[in-house]
Amino acid sequence: MENIKIKAIILAAGKGTRFKSEKPKVLHQLLGKPMIFYVKEAVSWINPEEIIFVVGHKKEDVIKEINCDKCKFAIQEKQLGTGDAVKSSLKYWEDFDGYLLIINGDTPLIKGQTLKDAVNYLNALINYEGRQINDKNYKNKNIAGLVLTAKLDNPYGYGRIIKGKAGVIDKIVEEKDASPLEKQIKEVNSGIYLIYVPFLKDALNKLTSNNNQNEYYLTDVIEILKDEGKYFYTFDVGDYTQILGVNDRWQLANAENILKTQFLYFWATNGVTIHNPDTVWIDFDVSLDKDVEIYQCVSLRGKTEVLEGSIIYENCVIINSKIGKNVKIYPNTVIENSIIEDNAEVGPFSRIRNNAVIGKNCSIGNFVEVKNSKIGNNTYAKHLTYLGDAEIGNNVNIGAGTITCNYDGVNKHKTVIKDGAFIGSDTMLVAPITIGKNAYTGSGSVITKDVPDNALAVERAKLRIIDNYAKRKKEKKEKDDSC
Ligand code: UD1
Ligand code: CA
Repeated sequence: MENIKIKAIILAAGKGTRFKSEKPKVLHQLLGKPMIFYVKEAVSWINPEEIIFVVGHKKEDVIKEINCDKCKFAIQEKQLGTGDAVKSSLKYWEDFDGYLLIINGDTPLIKGQTLKDAVNYLNALINYEGRQINDKNYKNKNIAGLVLTAKLDNPYGYGRIIKGKAGVIDKIVEEKDASPLEKQIKEVNSGIYLIYVPFLKDALNKLTSNNNQNEYYLTDVIEILKDEGKYFYTFDVGDYTQILGVNDRWQLANAENILKTQFLYFWATNGVTIHNPDTVWIDFDVSLDKDVEIYQCVSLRGKTEVLEGSIIYENCVIINSKIGKNVKIYPNTVIENSIIEDNAEVGPFSRIRNNAVIGKNCSIGNFVEVKNSKIGNNTYAKHLTYLGDAEIGNNVNIGAGTITCNYDGVNKHKTVIKDGAFIGSDTMLVAPITIGKNAYTGSGSVITKDVPDNALAVERAKLRIIDNYAKRKKEKKEKDDSC
């Protein structure tokens, strides 16, 4: 007997009223990726022939976020309920002789493996039924499909599964329509179904909006088909967190925390040491090599990559950046869109941003800001410095308090500091400017002209030392006071 054929439908047309947001619900993010991304990822595990997204509210925004070869879009003009949403995608599947995997777009914690297991279970059920009646060409007779379910301690808000004989579902009752007795039921509808197309088509036409929400419920299809002798079975997903629906921002926060812990577990079991994981944040797109060590309150966001042996100490935030091998990022450092090469040390309290590149073995220290600058290897800038729009060579020493004065109020200008240069403390480098190879600048100088290789540039008023100044000043004050 052949395996069942599947197309997937992801329902994502709803407003998400409870989010109180201008943004469609399914575009709200968990760990840096929109909710709908996770649903699509899970669905792709079962390799459906097509993935059909039902979109409506702010559909352009949702469509823009999704791209894949197999993706199709159906428009639901008015959000009249989940049954109506499925119906609005009819043209993509009405002649399909297989099953639809239908899934709510607000169930981001579902695992691809669970969907695969459900498909295998359905296959097994159908094959079993075929064998029972000894029909080699048997496709389907009575099995309308599966509803993925879980048991919740607090089932509030979910559709309840009302079971009849031999595990068959009699119907699903929504929270708002449930009797007190039905509300006691802990087994809930996940909003994920596998449904046989030839049966579904007719049943959809029989839906009414005769309920407390005046909506066309997809879930009513179950009772309609049961009355015609076609049965739905449940597939219990086990871990209930997988089916949590995200209807408001608190549920989003809860789902994101669950996902975050799963990712931290993944990294911790793949060679990464994480101290105090409750306080650590790692986005979906982050990649970490083995023997990376992460201390508490670290946030790694966007497409950040950290290579082997690097240590990120407390309170660092790293966004869309690449950290090389054996790098040390000391506490309270913020790095954005930048590259830190192997064996460098950055921080504490450094800020590295806008495509900065910090070369190998560099040391960038306390209260140093580096913006859009390329720094060569073995260069030091350890204290209280701003390096903006600069190109700095190898083996350069940048003294404390150095500033590249890159902005003249209208334009930004470049500072070039060549290999081996020594910039004295508190030097102002007024860009555009070039400091030559092995050149020196004297502390406290304001450098406004290029400095040739090997030269010293010093700009200072002549130092005067006035003997006994303090004594004379005191004497004068005493004299004035006695008058
Ligand atoms: C739905 C189920 C409920 C189940 C729960 C699981 C129904 C009637 N109820 O309730 O049994 O326990 O999910 O999370 O299906 N959508 C559309 N168009 C619409 C309405 C909704 O595309 O007209 C989409 C939404 O964008 C959302 C999904 O369908 O992604 C589910 O809709 P929602 O309103 O969140 O349903 P629930 O009340 O959570
Ligand atoms: Ca929901």
